[in-house]
Amino acid sequence: MSDQPLVMVLNGPNLNLLGSREPHIYGHDTLDDIAQRLEVQAAGLGLEVDIRQSNHEGHLVDWLHEAGARGALAVLLNAGALTHTSIAIHDAIKGITVPVIEVHLSNPHAREDFRHTSFVARAAKGTISGFGARSYTLALDAAAALRQ
Ligand code: DQA
Repeated sequence: MSDQPLVMVLNGPNLNLLGSREPHIYGHDTLDDIAQRLEVQAAGLGLEVDIRQSNHEGHLVDWLHEAGARGALAVLLNAGALTHTSIAIHDAIKGITVPVIEVHLSNPHAREDFRHTSFVARAAKGTISGFGARSYTLALDAAAALRQ
């Protein structure tokens, strides 16, 4: 167990396919590649990261609650398509005091209309999107800046 501030990095549906999934939109990095980069960056920032992915909405809800119970510094949340549909995730974010930073590889606002609504954004501290895999590293820097 580390006593460094914890940042949970939660990834939703289909993000396990990164690397092979629509690479013209999401790039060639796998989620493991991104996780490795975040681990190195976190070590440099004096943070602990806990990086997870699930295709199931309830897992994300449970993990948000866990972030609250563990007193995490922040959550980086890429909820995938659930961003645009899930009031349960919206309510879970509202139900904890941990700041949640919404992350997307693509810029959903520059894509189909159905991606223009984000239930995550309505509850999040802020959003970083459109920078490919770099959205995650930018978001981890933003999380580090929340330390007092
Ligand atoms: C995404 C954007 C969502 O609209 C999409 O459903 C995803 C990935 C992104 O990271 O760009 O699964 O969250």
